[in-house]
Amino acid sequence: VVFLVSSQPLLGLFGERVQAGLAGARAIETLVVPDGESAKTPETAIAVWREMLRRGGKRDSRVVALGGGSVGDLAGFVASTFLRGVAVLQVPTTLLAQVDASVGGKTAIDLPEAKNSVGAFHHPDWVLADSDCLASLPQAELRCGLVEAVKMASLLDAELFSRIERDAELLLAGDAEALRPVVVAAIAAKASVVEDDPEEGGRRRLLNFGHTLGHGLETADGYGGLRHGDAVAHGIRFALRLGQSRGWGHQLAPRLLDVLARLAIPALERVAPGPVIDAMRRDKKGSEAGLAWVLAEELGRGRIVTDIGWPEVEVALAAFLDEAWPGPA
Ligand SMILES: NC(=O)c1ccc[n+]([C@@H]2O[C@H](COP(=O)([O-])OP(=O)(O)OC[C@H]3O[C@@H](n4cnc5c(N)ncnc54)[C@H](O)[C@@H]3O)[C@@H](O)[C@H]2O)c1
Repeated sequence: VVFLVSSQPLLGLFGERVQAGLAGARAIETLVVPDGESAKTPETAIAVWREMLRRGGKRDSRVVALGGGSVGDLAGFVASTFLRGVAVLQVPTTLLAQVDASVGGKTAIDLPEAKNSVGAFHHPDWVLADSDCLASLPQAELRCGLVEAVKMASLLDAELFSRIERDAELLLAGDAEALRPVVVAAIAAKASVVEDDPEEGGRRRLLNFGHTLGHGLETADGYGGLRHGDAVAHGIRFALRLGQSRGWGHQLAPRLLDVLARLAIPALERVAPGPVIDAMRRDKKGSEAGLAWVLAEELGRGRIVTDIGWPEVEVALAAFLDEAWPGPA
């Protein structure tokens, strides 16, 4: 049995195409999950596991995840655990999922206490990223995908960073010719890091640039209106600030902030530091010794820093959240 996991709007957009692609499969069972981040709950995972059992799922069944990073993370997690693990095929339909989430095997669901706090590494057998899918993507989703591409480029691929810098407006407008090489380069950068470090023991941790505060903001927001990519953009700004107070990133920071501003990242809504700090204290990147921050030394050079005390983070965060960004033009 092939279990096609997706949300109603995405099945409306792409269901027929995927069904046609799966025509050779013995049986296709479609499992509809909530759209967006609200798919990533324990309740949805339980509902999908139970439905898979009822509809004849076995060890050699397969899961096809059709959607953005949310469906991909949920379906990948369900596949990783169902009958101790069945194969998953990722069909990413957002830019963010194409450049980042579908590659590398991280899967997870959220708990109210902390984002992605239950999950597994479960690599997809295949990733099928069709750039035609991006044509229907709203600009806000393009922006979020570009943030993940910027994150990757700034620490791993200086050439890709310059390309995004050059083409930011075209990319944000969804220009297919401009987007294609960015998707290809970002996938290549991510795949090469993941191949060397599949379970994030070392260099792969650089891909968490911007994610410590980003996830804290999303958790404090209750996975409401704040998009993942936008949260990461603000997380990158905060990581730059922590780096600058150590004397790093002075050349990179203005370039990175300029690209983020050109991508029209919306200002952060007013948020109290307390719940954000609480969420960061539960961040899965933390060890019992403390939290690992990814900071940027310079373009193409990231650094994992584990000796930043909570008092420093609290003071820096309070100032950061008080400041308007982007400032007056
Ligand atoms: N596993 C990883 O390595 C990894 C990496 C980065 C992010 N993530 C996760 O990915 C999630 C965010 O994913 P996302 O940004 O793709 O958002 P998303 O999956 O929540 O999708 C956002 C919205 O876009 C819509 N959409 C998807 N494809 C579309 C298309 N082609 N046309 C029109 N609308 C479309 C969806 O229906 C949804 O409403 C977060 O939960 C984040 O934690 C995971």
